[in-house]
Amino acid sequence: MAEVPHIPVLSAEAMGYMAPERGGLFVDCTIGAGGHARALMAGGATRLLGLDRDRHALACAAQSLAAWRDRVDLVHADFHELDAVLDARGIARIDGAIADLGVSSMQLEGDGRGFSFKRDEPLDMRMDQSAGATAAELIRETSETELADAIFRYGEERHSRRIARAIVATRRDAPVETTGQLAAIVRRAMPNRGWRRIDPATRTFQAIRIWVNRELDGLATALEVICRRLAANARVVVVSFHSLEDRIVKQTFRALGRGHEAIIRILTKRPLVASDDERDRNPRARSAKLRAAERIA
Ligand SMILES: C[S@@+](CC[C@H](N)C(=O)[O-])C[C@H]1O[C@@H](n2cnc3c(N)ncnc32)[C@H](O)[C@@H]1O
Repeated sequence: MAEVPHIPVLSAEAMGYMAPERGGLFVDCTIGAGGHARALMAGGATRLLGLDRDRHALACAAQSLAAWRDRVDLVHADFHELDAVLDARGIARIDGAIADLGVSSMQLEGDGRGFSFKRDEPLDMRMDQSAGATAAELIRETSETELADAIFRYGEERHSRRIARAIVATRRDAPVETTGQLAAIVRRAMPNRGWRRIDPATRTFQAIRIWVNRELDGLATALEVICRRLAANARVVVVSFHSLEDRIVKQTFRALGRGHEAIIRILTKRPLVASDDERDRNPRARSAKLRAAERIA
């Protein structure tokens, strides 16, 4: 697989909140290529537990964290299973956690994963290639209404009905099995408005990726589990890349920080965004929002 380096987003800001120099056990819920994890270890974390549901990401993280191999535990797991992962290791409390949501550049741009409309390859899109239905299977088996709803909900695509109709019309003759086929169907289905800043397939590809990986399902509960596992004064940082995700982070933090039962204090009144300089250097940073909170009880 051609490797595309993943540049961590908002890393300095994330480390400012995580404060790894305090030492202790930190959890990287979405270790990816290990960029944030490296900064945690270099910054003074004593131990690190790194999770990812993509085995390829874990292999990359193992390489990039080789210098700290004795103090790093890498686990193939969805961070929604954090309770079970910690229980299995006899860990009650953690000293910090980071979740850098969504997909990595390695997934998006790497060959053979089926996330990108920039090349023609099998339509997979699963972060965890050992489980669940591929995008091609979902597209084959879903009704037109469900397809349209997913494209609208997860892509905020206002032409979702048109696109779903075109997909269903095409699949009557032959299954939609490649990224190139899907991109061509979407582009043809869109009203022709001349030059566009982004490819017309962008929102549909985002929607199907979120749908395939159930990226929003159970996110609020998973964030609550992270907060409940934090030791007193320990912090959680969440970086999100689209408004649906950010809304869930914001609402969950608010709910956990409200009233007599509050367990966290929100450290970011407004989400942090990347500087112009970072946006120029790393286009992935353009949509990033960082929120942080601290355990109080
Ligand atoms: C934006 S990348 C993280 C990059 C990482 N912070 C770095 O600096 O290299 C997101 C990673 O999270 C993983 N991921 C997304 N959702 C996940 C989940 N629910 N559980 C575990 N891993 C997840 C993806 O497979 C991907 O490798």
